[in-house]
Formats: sequence, C-alpha cells, structure tokens
Amino acid sequence: MSNLTVAFISLSGNTLSFVKRLSDYLKLNHNIDTRQINIKDLNHETFPVDEPFVAILPTYLEGGNGIDHGDVEILTNPLGDFISAHDNYKNCFGIIGSGNRNFNNQYCLTAKQYSQRFGFPMLGDFELRGTISDIERLAAIILKAQEEFTAQR
Ligand SMILES: Cc1cc2nc3c(=O)[nH]c(=O)nc-3n(C[C@H](O)[C@H](O)[C@H](O)COP(=O)(O)O)c2cc1C
Repeated sequence: MSNLTVAFISLSGNTLSFVKRLSDYLKLNHNIDTRQINIKDLNHETFPVDEPFVAILPTYLEGGNGIDHGDVEILTNPLGDFISAHDNYKNCFGIIGSGNRNFNNQYCLTAKQYSQRFGFPMLGDFELRGTISDIERLAAIILKAQEEFTAQR
C-alpha cells in the first residue's frame, strides 16, 4: 500500500467533490491512501508538509479577461500562503487547476500562475466537479509525476 497527499482549497464544493472521488478511485484501483489537506478547514494555519504532495486549485478571478486585466486572485490565496510557508513548495510535485471554460482565457489561470510562481509543473485541469474520465486521466498523471519526483530526491 502507498500514499498520496493532496493539498487543495474548495469554496463551493466542486474541488472537494473531485478530491473525495479521486481518493476513492485511488483506494479502490491502486490501494493508495490519500491524505487530504483541506486548506479551508485550516483557518489560515500553516504547517510543514514533509512528504511530496500535489496541489489542486480552482480559479476565482476578479472580472477581466485574463490577458490585459482581470488576473487578480480572490478567495483562494490561503492555498498560495500554505504552499509558500515553511518552503512547502519544494515538496509540491505539481498542480492541477479546476475552473470553468466559460471564463475563456482565464480558464484555470491561477493554477498556471502558481506553476510559474513556484516552479512546479501544471499537471492538468478539469472543469467543475470533473468527470470519471477526468479522475482516471488525472490519477494516472499524478501517480507518474509523484513517482518521478520521488525518484529524483
Ligand atoms: C466569482 C467566481 C469567479 C470565477 N472565476 C473563474 C475564472 O476566472 N476562471 C475559471 O476557470 N473559473 C472561474 N470560476 C469557476 C470556478 O473556478 C469553478 O466553479 C470551480 O469548480 C470552483 O471550485 P470550488 O467549488 O471547489 O470552489 C469562477 C467562479 C466564481 C463563482
């Protein structure tokens, strides 16, 4: 049996649903136990994460079009604070964005910005709660990225 750690934030429940279903899928199909770090529950508390982890982040931007204006992150900053605290970003092997394609150029933009800011890869994205095929697709990508990251350490 092995483990996966996921740090995420969810304001309206979509990302939480995805993380729960991803965890169930990994347990059932790979016998992997998932440690869920739900940033919303922490009330701005931070702590060091000593094991490799993946971050999952919805985008909430304040208006704009994501190109020349409107890329100001609102509501999800506590995840960025958690990742930067205690050098946690060094153990983050990648980020997955969630969002809504109706936002066009702003689709999952905050996850892309975190990838640039912290230097870890953007592993993928999904819309809203994600479908079962998103879970299967992203589970494979996450496990491969975790394996490669662990092998390099
Ligand atoms: C005020 C507001 C702004 C949003 N801005 C964006 C955006 O800029 N880009 C995007 O891809 N999705 C945007 N979304 C969609 C959310 O990222 C999407 O609904 C996501 O699934 C929410 O995740 P959560 O339910 O875990 O909080 C926005 C949603 C709201 C309510």
